[in-house]
Amino acid sequence: MADTTDVPEDAHPGPDDGPAGRRERARLAATRYLLGTAPLTVPERLRSLADAAESPAPDVYGTGGEVAALEAELCEVLGKPAAVLMPSGTMAQQCALRVWADRSARPGVAVHGLSHLVLHEQSALEALHGVRMEVLTRERRPLDAADLAQAPGPLAALAVELPLRDAGYLLPTWNDLVALVDAARAKGMAIHFDGARLWESQPYYDRPHAQIAGLADTVYVSFYKGLDAVSGAALAGPADVIADARAWQHRHGGRLYAMHPVAIGARQGLARLGEFAGYADRARKLAAALAQLPGVRVHPDPPQVNAFVLHLDVDADSFTEQALQHAETTGTWTYGRLTPADVPGWSSTEVVVGPATTGWEVAEVVEVTATLLRRARGEADLP
Ligand SMILES: Cc1ncc(COP(=O)(O)O)c(C=O)c1O
Repeated sequence: MADTTDVPEDAHPGPDDGPAGRRERARLAATRYLLGTAPLTVPERLRSLADAAESPAPDVYGTGGEVAALEAELCEVLGKPAAVLMPSGTMAQQCALRVWADRSARPGVAVHGLSHLVLHEQSALEALHGVRMEVLTRERRPLDAADLAQAPGPLAALAVELPLRDAGYLLPTWNDLVALVDAARAKGMAIHFDGARLWESQPYYDRPHAQIAGLADTVYVSFYKGLDAVSGAALAGPADVIADARAWQHRHGGRLYAMHPVAIGARQGLARLGEFAGYADRARKLAAALAQLPGVRVHPDPPQVNAFVLHLDVDADSFTEQALQHAETTGTWTYGRLTPADVPGWSSTEVVVGPATTGWEVAEVVEVTATLLRRARGEADLP
């Protein structure tokens, strides 16, 4: 998975954009990476896609070729009758929730206040579709059935982000998820899963993807997070709903003339679904070891998926600078840009475990983190 943690979702850092550009140059020039997946150069990426292509004929407006093959694979994995490849998750979710809102003629959808829909999509659902987002809670925890009991008025659908990234990659237990879904159904709501990281969530539930997706009517999945495609998303669900979602995709301008590069990358990713249990296991081992360092806390403890948040009692800029200097001098990219935490003097960053991380011993990760911490605090390196 590309380590997208250093790229602010609403920013567009270019190579010459000051500190962001310096970081990006160092990241791309590095020869070893701690988090996610080592980035590919453009020629490497294109060669890999060319090698993986199975269909010589391109899709036309998303019909046929690799796109059709991908959508069929998704139906199989997610246990849904239909699926549609979309350029982005932002578009996929808007299409899904618009369809549910139109079908129920109810004015809004229930969401978590820390969900991507609320925090990172420029209020697209309300601005473009007039669909109101009813925030059930803003607390750092997954939604639960009790939140729904408080929800005002009839709502068309419930959107559940699995895991809730901005709360620290948190998942509800299976029983709590079932109770939440049951409570929403009892209110006549459709269920939509933001499964941007459904692949990463599956080992926690230890159930087939189709069983997890089976709790929802529509599921969005992403291809460029854990699955490391260049971009892309898909929406899966009942055939009539997906047909309507295709119409909204078209209206959004998302019916691209050809999408086979995205589809090939997505299919490469789907071949790696079995890796995520190992990444989650590694994340738990890393978190346990890092939490032993003075001035370090992990959240959640233990991590539920392959990612967790590291809280450090050090200034964000100082640690970021030390990590950057380490990358520039050693060619090893460890941590990107830290963000100041709510507690003064503390900072936070995400640790996302992927293929790159498996090349590191746990002790090595602890050592480099401790070194960066010491330097960021202005302490001398140990002899
Ligand atoms: C939880 C979640 N939902 C939705 C999205 C939107 O995906 P996209 O960038 O493909 O629009 C993201 C992207 O980071 C995400 O993390």
